[in-house]
Amino acid sequence: MKPLRLDDYEDLAREYLAADVFDYYAGGACDEHTLRDNREAFTRLRLVGRVLRDVAERSLATRVLGSDISMPVMIAPVAFQRLAFDDGELATARAAAEADTLMIISTLSSVSIEEVAAATHGPLWFQLYVYKDRGLTLELVRRAEDAGYRALVLTVDAQVWGKRERDLRHCFELPSGVTMANLEGAVHGRFPSERSAPAPSAAGHGVSGSGLAATHRSMSGSGLAAHVDSLFDAALDWNTVAWLIGQTRLPVVLKGVLHPDDARLAMAHGAAGVFVSNHGGRQLDTAPATLDALEGVVEAVGGRGEVYLDGGVRRGSDVAKALALGARAVAIGRPVVWGLAAAGARGVSGVLEILRDELDVALALCGARRPDELDRAVLL
Ligand SMILES: Cc1cc2nc3c(=O)[nH]c(=O)nc-3n(C[C@H](O)[C@H](O)[C@H](O)COP(=O)(O)O)c2cc1C
Repeated sequence: MKPLRLDDYEDLAREYLAADVFDYYAGGACDEHTLRDNREAFTRLRLVGRVLRDVAERSLATRVLGSDISMPVMIAPVAFQRLAFDDGELATARAAAEADTLMIISTLSSVSIEEVAAATHGPLWFQLYVYKDRGLTLELVRRAEDAGYRALVLTVDAQVWGKRERDLRHCFELPSGVTMANLEGAVHGRFPSERSAPAPSAAGHGVSGSGLAATHRSMSGSGLAAHVDSLFDAALDWNTVAWLIGQTRLPVVLKGVLHPDDARLAMAHGAAGVFVSNHGGRQLDTAPATLDALEGVVEAVGGRGEVYLDGGVRRGSDVAKALALGARAVAIGRPVVWGLAAAGARGVSGVLEILRDELDVALALCGARRPDELDRAVLL
């Protein structure tokens, strides 16, 4: 059956992916309150359509940090996309370019910075994790600059890893067919041994990780958590942000800001924008839903930078609500990997086009012809 909504892609992905891989993507931290609340927050807010406003001519196009995109929906950084589909990030990048939108590549992508850039003419941003090894961190920055990435998205909500119980139960580790492609060599021997796994299936539906013995499990039972705990810099602070901004010619966006005071500090330190994000509910459980935190951050930023939101966006009406509260654009994470798992680049395109169509209808029925015509007046 042809998927009609983003959740249909999740249902397909559940069929195709091994249980531990599905849970790695789907899961959140601890009791997953924030994971659920991200979505529920959108249902707590109503859109009051405005009528008789002539919405015959409409455009969803917008601009983020100087890059024109065809709609205010971007692709959030999601690690290890080759777990979902052989081509991984390459397929996602092709679909993003076809939809004329922007993709953010994770530091932990399973295809390298350069290979993704070579596969697309579309705009790319690079998501950066700061390593204790500042040389390694700067090398990632230079590689992104050289490959033509247009902004750095510094993730500030993952100095330590959230307690992801689904991964702990599965003792989740990367199968040998999937690597941290940007870090090969650099952190060699420091990532807990990858377990052996069959090559990606001929059908292309990712790498099965189930039923395989993990030979060297970390103490916590999740190899990723061990990687983060041993290599990410938990001492990251505002001085690090200032340092990074001083090191690069690219605009820097801080991802993972929920508190208005942090949004103010981000502007004071020269950030070009902030992502209102709780990492898709994967870090601090019981953190507020991003939609609930958005307005305070927009107010604190006060037009000095751009504000984006991710977390739980599954419908065009969700996008409309975020825009009405002042977000310039939103990003989607899990739906992209569900699309990938279902049908590779075609699946990601399907996800993006469903969201585009739904947003177009929501905008029109709110009496708006362009994203910037939505404001708080349409919310109840
Ligand atoms: C499987 C998975 C991997 C992720 N990897 C990263 C990452 O490497 N870097 C990062 O900044 N955020 C990462 N995120 C968080 C996303 O960028 C984004 O904040 C979140 O997925 C948005 O919520 P949504 O999945 O409900 O759309 C990841 C999220 C998921 C689900």
